[in-house]
Amino acid sequence: MGTLKGFPNPAMVRHAQRWLSRRAPHATISAINLAVPDLPPTVKGMNDILPPEVSKWQFVEEKARSVLESFAYRELRTPILEYTPLFVRSVGEDTEVVEKQMYTFTDRDGQSVSMRPEGTACAVRAYIVRSQWTREPVTRWYYLGPMFRHERAQRGRLRQFHQVGAEVFGLAAPTVDAELIAMLVALLAEMGIKSSDLEVAVNTLGEPEERASYREALRGYFSNHLDKLDEGSRQRLQTNPLRILDSKDPDIQALASNAPVLLDVLGDASKQHFEAVRGHLSALGVQSVVDTKLVRGLDYYTGTIFELKAKAGDLGAQNTLCGGGRYDRLVSSLGGPEVPAIGFGLGIERVLLALAEPAEEFEPVLALFIAVLGEKAQAWALPVAHRLRLQGVRTEFEHRTASLKSQLKRADALKARLALIVGDNELQSGKLVLRDLATRQQHEVTEAELEGKIRQLVDF
Ligand code: HAM
Repeated sequence: MGTLKGFPNPAMVRHAQRWLSRRAPHATISAINLAVPDLPPTVKGMNDILPPEVSKWQFVEEKARSVLESFAYRELRTPILEYTPLFVRSVGEDTEVVEKQMYTFTDRDGQSVSMRPEGTACAVRAYIVRSQWTREPVTRWYYLGPMFRHERAQRGRLRQFHQVGAEVFGLAAPTVDAELIAMLVALLAEMGIKSSDLEVAVNTLGEPEERASYREALRGYFSNHLDKLDEGSRQRLQTNPLRILDSKDPDIQALASNAPVLLDVLGDASKQHFEAVRGHLSALGVQSVVDTKLVRGLDYYTGTIFELKAKAGDLGAQNTLCGGGRYDRLVSSLGGPEVPAIGFGLGIERVLLALAEPAEEFEPVLALFIAVLGEKAQAWALPVAHRLRLQGVRTEFEHRTASLKSQLKRADALKARLALIVGDNELQSGKLVLRDLATRQQHEVTEAELEGKIRQLVDF
């Protein structure tokens, strides 16, 4: 293994590690890795997730599961790897995701496989392979897990990122679109992001046939302004002119603001569906704004599309927490029956950035630290700690030989609520000392009273 960029001098490396862990305890581990010669860092844009951060992740994941389960979704788990044509045929050959961002390689069987860049295609494959429509007319699935896109890594944009996603199959009514979007607003509120801090942007892409004639109108419009288009937009003019509408370039945005609007040219059925969705959203208390420039970057959408953006926080350009929409033609285009469908993907990393509370606040409470003085005390404490732990009392126990002072220091560092101090004297007298580490109050207890007293003093 070759030497990686970093500090060649081991003393400097140790210094850098100590400095990083003291001064920037929440620096990504890759930053710390970079300081170690010969040890490969994590792959760019992919992070380790350690305590205390992991507690914030668990909080978000638990909220997602509980809200989705209340809305009658069941969990789906699909593999990370899929055969590449699945994404080419669903997400679309000309999309950025398929064209530029997939981790695609030939496996040892000579097959082209890709690490999933998103979850909808995988859910639809599972739906078709299992003939799910023959089992139940309506299927609601959710999933949690890593997705992979080779994007330019930055704050809120990773190469391995994580989504909570959900897909509903078999329902075409506009009430479902509204139900799903309102559920997302509630889900984010449960996680701590208030609806007043969110913008719910909605649009409709209509039916593919309606979009075809609109595409031509857009081509005509932008062709008259070729000199104002950048290289990427000129390419999109050929492949997918709708994507020019969501360009981030201010000049192109100005140009796009005078472009024909899809909503104006849609047929009655598409317009009515969209109006109904908006009406149901208001009835559910969700304020939505119509963004006629919203197009989404994946090819499978038809009809309603939406994005939820964080207005507060410092997510910068990566403030889209969640995106989704209808894809009523995807199941049939991949070989299944005609089944309408709708879903969303929520970026966990972005939600975490939008939640201001530090990760420590999500850490579980360590109820008890057992400080032991001497071998006898240690032997006594081992089964006691074991029993307490099996009763759900989160307990740490000192296995090393250390002074009482240093053990209590460690108990403080771990933010233990109580410390049990056990030495030969306590064992002989049978009177144990339970110290409340916040108030410094001491309580004398017997072994039999221990669990009850802990439960009385600590709020689990
Ligand atoms: P998407 O808009 O590509 O949609 O991704 C959904 C969410 O995943 C984004 O809003 C964002 O929060 C997060 N996300 C996407 N890329 C990254 C990245 N590189 N780094 C961090 N977060 C990211 C989909 O994936 C569709 N499958 C959603 C869907 C489900 N539509 C219908 N059903």
